[in-house]
Amino acid sequence: MAGIRLLPEDSDVSQQVRAVALSDLVSDDDRSVAADSWSIKSEYGSTLDDDQRHADAAEALSNANLRAPSDYSSDKDEPDSEAVTSMLGFQSYWDAAYAEELTNFREHGHSGEVWFGADVMEVVASWTKALCVDISQGRIPNHVDDVKTEDGELGDKLLSSWSVLDIGTGNGLLLQELAKQGFSDLTGTDYSESAISLAQSLSERDGFSNIKFLVDDVLETKLEQEFRLVTDKGTLDAIGLHPDGPVKKMMYWDSVSRLVAPGGILVVTSCNSTKDELIQEVESFNQRKIAAAQELEAAKDEESCKEPIFRYVSHVRTYPTFMFGGSVGSRVATVAFLRK
Ligand SMILES: C[S@@+](CC[C@H](N)C(=O)[O-])C[C@H]1O[C@@H](n2cnc3c(N)ncnc32)[C@H](O)[C@@H]1O
Repeated sequence: MAGIRLLPEDSDVSQQVRAVALSDLVSDDDRSVAADSWSIKSEYGSTLDDDQRHADAAEALSNANLRAPSDYSSDKDEPDSEAVTSMLGFQSYWDAAYAEELTNFREHGHSGEVWFGADVMEVVASWTKALCVDISQGRIPNHVDDVKTEDGELGDKLLSSWSVLDIGTGNGLLLQELAKQGFSDLTGTDYSESAISLAQSLSERDGFSNIKFLVDDVLETKLEQEFRLVTDKGTLDAIGLHPDGPVKKMMYWDSVSRLVAPGGILVVTSCNSTKDELIQEVESFNQRKIAAAQELEAAKDEESCKEPIFRYVSHVRTYPTFMFGGSVGSRVATVAFLRK
């Protein structure tokens, strides 16, 4: 792990969140325990200081740094016993969290947590738009920070051919932000039914009822469609926090490689992996796929395909950076990969 993340100050709540980290849980059968742990967080007053509670959960997500990239780049099947896991890796956590957010929405009209903050969400959406416009115009950029966004009709016309899937969409607000940027073919999936109900309610309230939402587990996706743009903000992070995180991450890459259309892009936003760690993870996935293809081709005595499935294209360079331990780093990384 690169060790360049800003370490947030400890709070009582985050200590309790860590105290209930589920490192000793090994299967989804134990999810009920994870659900119980949610009640510990809920004790923060019947008044429920949502902002504080969610800030603490976000802190837990970013604090639960996993492991050196070399660990998950190996082919071992066994979960790393030293890996730091958390209740945020369990579906029961998200079911409880979004059930509560749904209640808060119905009772108070609250939109709920914007993971990594509204600023990051806006940057992800506008940066992704610039990248897609660039690709539509035949430019595969090394970076797009300086690219002028095509506003108005041309931009909208170019974006209309981009089908978008946001995996682990939560409240679906990133899709609303992408709609504001001009994307029109938008779908969000999440394995939590409450998240999908919340996302649907919010999109209707906010005038984005054209966005489609479906309950779907990305690791066992039922979607047969391919999308030209797939986005992930915080979902890979959450998946990696399950005790079987390394195995689940391999399943994630397999699944996502089927969801992104050839020539399409995947944009991952993470607070748990640096840009280099995400690239390393993709490289490991590419290597695994190439080795598997070679084995298959060798059996058939044919030429094997050595082309990587995903190729790094660009990353956001404009997030605020922090100095920590002599290194400069950013708390959030957004990286785009091009699908072969
Ligand atoms: C950190 S939250 C981020 C939510 C949303 N992307 C956002 O930025 O607000 C992680 C999300 O991933 C979802 N999730 C985790 N594992 C998933 C899986 N295997 N399939 C689908 N959704 C998943 C959770 O339900 C949760 O909504």
